Amino acid sequence: MLGPELEAMESEWAAWCGSKHAVGVSSGLDAMHLILRTWGIGEGDEVIVPSNTYIATWLAVSHSGAKPVPVEPDWSTCCLDPVLIERAITPRTRAIVAVHLYGHPCDMGRIMAIAKKHGLLVLEDAAQAHGAEWDFKKIGSHGDAVAWSFYPSKNLGALGDAGAVTTNDAELTKKLRMLRNYGSAVRYVNEEVGFNNRLEELHAAILRIKIRYLEEWNCRRHELAMRYSSAFSKLENVTLPITQPNAKHAWHLYTMRTPNRDALRVHLEKSGIGTLIHYPIPPHKQKAYKHLGLADMSFPIAEKIHEQTLSLPLGPHLSEHSQDHIISSVLCQADCIKAA
Ligand SMILES: Cc1ncc(COP(=O)(O)O)c(C=O)c1O
Repeated sequence: MLGPELEAMESEWAAWCGSKHAVGVSSGLDAMHLILRTWGIGEGDEVIVPSNTYIATWLAVSHSGAKPVPVEPDWSTCCLDPVLIERAITPRTRAIVAVHLYGHPCDMGRIMAIAKKHGLLVLEDAAQAHGAEWDFKKIGSHGDAVAWSFYPSKNLGALGDAGAVTTNDAELTKKLRMLRNYGSAVRYVNEEVGFNNRLEELHAAILRIKIRYLEEWNCRRHELAMRYSSAFSKLENVTLPITQPNAKHAWHLYTMRTPNRDALRVHLEKSGIGTLIHYPIPPHKQKAYKHLGLADMSFPIAEKIHEQTLSLPLGPHLSEHSQDHIISSVLCQADCIKAA
C-alpha cells in the first residue's frame, strides 16, 4: 500500500488533467468526503449540490455532517444552473459541489465567479468527466478540488473501487494524504482522526496503463455519440444531449430524453439492447433523505430528467455494427416516441 505504483499514478494523473497534485483514494465518494472534511466543513454548514445527480454527491456532504442544499440544473446540459445557485446561498453556505454530469462540464467560469463573490469553496464532482474541458482547459483544477471516481465503468476505470483528488493546493494535498491513511503521515503517529481510504497498488498499476489509452477511447466515445445524434436528429419529442460552445464533452453517457422513455426501454430490451436510467429516483425523493423533508418540495427540472432520461450503450468497445442495430431499433419506435 502507498507504494511506487500509486506515487507514479498520482503524478501521471495530475499531469494528464493539468493539475499540480493528485491524491489516490479508495472511491469517488471517499474523495468528496475527504475534501469536505479537510476543508473543515461539517455540522451546521450547508453545501450546494445539484438536485439531479448520483446519490454519492449528496452522501459525501451528509457524511461530513453538513446539509446538502439542492439547486436545479439547466435543462439543456443537466448541470447546475448558475443563475439559481446564488438564490440558494445563506450565511451557512460553505461550498458548492459542481457535478459534471454525464460528462458535460458545468459552467465553471460562472460558478467560480459566484464562489469568489460569496467566499465559498468549489468541489468538482468529476466522476463522469475524465477528459472533459471547460474553456479549452481540462477538468482537473478549475475548482478548489476535484473528485474523481475510477469505478470500473468510468471512462478511466480500475478493476474495482478507486478514486482520486486533484488540486493545485499543496496544503490540501498534504492533509488529504494524511486523512486517507488513518490521519497519519509518519507510521504510528496520528495527527487526525483519519480513515482507511487508500488506493491499492494493483489498481494504480492498472490505471497507469489505461491512462495511455484514455484520449483515444474518449475520441471513440465522441464519434459514437455524434453518430447517435445525427441518426436521431429528426426524431420528434426527443431531447438529445448537447455540448455548449466552450465545452468539451467526455461522453461518459449518451442520455436521450423522451416522455415515452419506459415504452422505448421495453422495446430495446426485447431487441437485446440493455439501457440504463441515470437516475430513476432523484436524491430528494430517496428514503435516505426523508429527514430533510424535501420529498414534497418541487424540483421540476430534476424530476423531469429522472422521468425521461435513457442512457444508450456507449463505450470504446461498441462496434458500428452494434450501434447500427441500436439506432435502427430506436428509429423504428419513432411513431411511439412522437405520440407520447
Ligand atoms: C456523479 C457521480 N458522483 C460520484 C460517484 C461516486 O463514485 P464512486 O462509485 O467511485 O464512489 C459516481 C459514481 O458512480 C458518480 O457517477
